[in-house]
This record gives sequence, C-alpha cells and structure tokens, in this order.
Amino acid sequence: RTHKDMKLTTIGCGYLGATHAACMAELGHHVLGVDVDAEKVARLRDGDVPFFEPGLADVLRRNIDAGRLQFTTDYHEVAAFGSVHFLGVGTPQQQRGHAADTGHVEAAIDSLTPLLRGQHLIIGKSTVPVGTAASLAQRIAVLAAPGSDVELAWSPEFLREGFAVEDTLEPDRLVLGTDPQRADSIAEQVVAEVYREVLESGTPFIRTDWATAELVKVAANAFLATKISFINAVSEVCEIVDADVSTLADAIGYDQRIGRKFLNAGVGFGGGCLPKDIRAFMARAEELGANQALRFLREVDAVNMRRRGALVDLVADACGGEVLGTNIAMLGAAFKPESDDVRDSPALNVAGQLALRGAPVTVFDPKAMDNSRRMYPMLRYAESASDACEQADVVVVATEWAEFVHMAPEELTPVVRNRVIVDGRRCLDPGMWRSAGWTYSAIGGATRD
Ligand code: UGA
Repeated sequence: RTHKDMKLTTIGCGYLGATHAACMAELGHHVLGVDVDAEKVARLRDGDVPFFEPGLADVLRRNIDAGRLQFTTDYHEVAAFGSVHFLGVGTPQQQRGHAADTGHVEAAIDSLTPLLRGQHLIIGKSTVPVGTAASLAQRIAVLAAPGSDVELAWSPEFLREGFAVEDTLEPDRLVLGTDPQRADSIAEQVVAEVYREVLESGTPFIRTDWATAELVKVAANAFLATKISFINAVSEVCEIVDADVSTLADAIGYDQRIGRKFLNAGVGFGGGCLPKDIRAFMARAEELGANQALRFLREVDAVNMRRRGALVDLVADACGGEVLGTNIAMLGAAFKPESDDVRDSPALNVAGQLALRGAPVTVFDPKAMDNSRRMYPMLRYAESASDACEQADVVVVATEWAEFVHMAPEELTPVVRNRVIVDGRRCLDPGMWRSAGWTYSAIGGATRD
C-alpha cells in the first residue's frame, strides 16, 4: 500500500471532524467518519455539509463519489476499518464555570478503545486543557483489550471557519505531541505518512510532547484574542480624542514584529473558539496553581465584552439617545463573514440587547438565518439587506460580509426612513456614505473620509 491510500478514521463529524475527514480523503486516503448523531451522518453520506463552509461540499462529494469517503454511527466499523484514528469531537465551555468540557472526548475514547485489536494510533485534534492527553492515556490503558497496543498522540488543529479546507490542506504548521515516556512511538512516522504531500510542500513539522502540543493550540488562540482586544482597547482611547484607530493599526502593523493581521478594531471577537478558549485556558491555569499567569486574559475578555455594549451605545446615540420604538436594521448575524456560525456572535448579542431595550430589530445575514432564528427567535428576520432596511431609522453593520461592504448607499436610500448608518466593524467607506447624504458613525473612534 502506498502512502496515498492509508485507511484513516475520524471520530466526530462536526466542524472539525467533517472537514478533516473530507480533506484526508482529498489527500488520497480512505476515510471513515463516525458520529453519534445519525442525522448528521445521513446528511454527510448524501454529500450534504450540515453547516456553511466554502468549498467543503465539493471536496466531500468528490471523495464520496471516488469511493474514498464514508460515514457511520457504528464504532465497531471504525475499529475494523483501520488503525489510525483522528479524534475531533467538540470541547465546549462547561454549563457551569469557564473550564472546557472534555466529556465528548472521554466518551469517544470509551466507545472506541475496548473494540480495538492489535496496534492502533489515536491522534487527538480537539482543543483540550493541558493534561488531557495524559489522563486519556490512563483511561486507554484501563480500557484496552488484553494484547492490544493503543498509542495516543495529540496534533491540534488550527483551521479557521470560512477557510477550513485551505487551512487543513495547506496548514501553516503541523504540531505533533507524543507520550514523553514512550520509546516505541509510531506516531511521528504515521503522521509523516498521512501528511506526506503536505510536508513535502515545506510545511514546518513540530514534534514535541503532549503538554506542549496541547498548550500550543490554546496559546495561539489566546494570542489572537489578545491582539484583537489590544486594538479594541486602544480604540477606546481613540474614541475619546477623536483619533483614527484604523490608520493607527496600519501604521503599527507595518512593523513586522507586530503585523497588520488581527488588528481590526470593531465589535470584537466571538464564535465557538476564541471566547471559550481564553476562559478555559485561565480556568486550567488556576487549577494548576498558576493563578496570576493568565490574569491578563480576564482583561482581554472584559475589553471584548465591553465592545458589544459600546456598539449598543453608539446605536442609541445614532437614534438620538433612546432606542425604544426605533426601527433598527441589523446587517450581519454570523460571528464573522463566510460563516453561518452564530455561537457567541457579537452581532446577535448587540441585536438582542437593542431588542431588550424596546427597539424593533430586523436582522439579515447572507448565510446565518436558520441558525439565528433557532438561537434568537425573538428577533425579526428579513430576506435581504434591503428588506431589513425597509422603514429603518438606523442601519447597523455588525458582520463585514462583502455584500455589505460593497453595498451602494443608493440601494438603501429609497427604503429607509432615516439615512443613518452605524459601522460596527469599521468596514465601510465613510466618504461614500456621507457624500450620499447619510450620517455615518463607526465604533472605535473617528474614521477619515
Ligand atoms: C479561530 C482561530 O483563528 C483558528 O486558528 C483556530 O483554529 C480556531 O479559532 C479554533 O480554535 O478552532 P475562528 O474562530 O474560525 O478561528 O475565527 P477567527 O478568524 O479567528 O475570528 C474570530 C473572531 O475574531 C471573529 O468574531 C472575528 O470577527 C474577530 N476578529 C478577527 C476581529 O474582531 N478582528 C480581527 O482583526 C480579526
């Protein structure tokens, strides 16, 4: 067998697992994805991606048609299919407290391990608190059938929603953490085989221990969150002195040690990863006795949450001080463009706060309508941006979808009641709106025409 047709399984067919399964098949491997959710498995079998992710449906269908990609709900099939298993189930924030809930990871290990015979490698990809791999390895040692040999490695995933396929097939780096006590580890050799094409194109391959690999992931997300909150904190000062934080970000971003990416000030970060991961990282550090080490992340979180309130206040100002009874059009609901994900979305949080203050809020998003309706049934929804703006007193842009960024003021002028627009992402061209007779304001201070 060549490296092209290894037999791999992926456990968990959510965002990470489904993308991973399809991309591993795209590399030429035979892949079986497993999930406990029968409906999700049925949809994937039909080539239907249960969430919006550009390009993923094509990769999925192509590989199903080529006979390289299958899905199941049965762990017996997974154990029999192959000997390399990627673990990509979710680790959400616990219902109570800030720590990550590793229940799904444990359940997956508990379902699979007793069924394995012979030599197997499980490669964890989920974002987990440091120490999880070590404790899962103990679980595996207890559950493994006599005579079997099940190794656990950790290889965190860094994909971004909206770029999931590209990030999986052309990652910035591969990280692999193995058991520091294990002399006969096969993980490095197996992972090098699985990703041969990717590594041949020059992708850095970092081999380390479990704890470092686990920490690389949460440290990366904590750094990104810190970068965003840094610029948002600076924007709070800009607001007071009427300075332009976007120009400031460009200027500091030219310093290559800083870099311009992730310095877009606005309503802040949301989604299923950054907010949850910084809280889980702090919670874990406290458990480990490093109480002070990550205290600054509390401030990162606080700055971020404050921006949501700041956008609500800015909209209230645009309404003349009181939002009660003011028609507000909210453009954007997803936590970022090119995604239908509304988990911890700043846009919907702001829409919800405005609705609670008594404003009729009408929301439109190009992809996240179904998820928004499910999560926020109390808001009104429109079928297009211009429908949402019908009779609006204030238009708010809260997610920088290209269709909003490139929207012409002339399209909305005939439908709105007042020509007032609030830019929650500093993504519009202020000069264009102002010269079309609109009152334009942006979160984070002045914007120059
Ligand atoms: C993030 C990381 O970027 C990925 O590397 C990581 O793999 C992933 O989490 C994960 O842990 O699974 P993602 O949540 O898809 O990816 O989204 P990002 O592109 O990081 O954006 C996060 C949030 O920050 C969005 O709400 C976005 O609007 C906001 N953001 C981003 C800003 O407010 N300003 C910026 O300059 C950049």
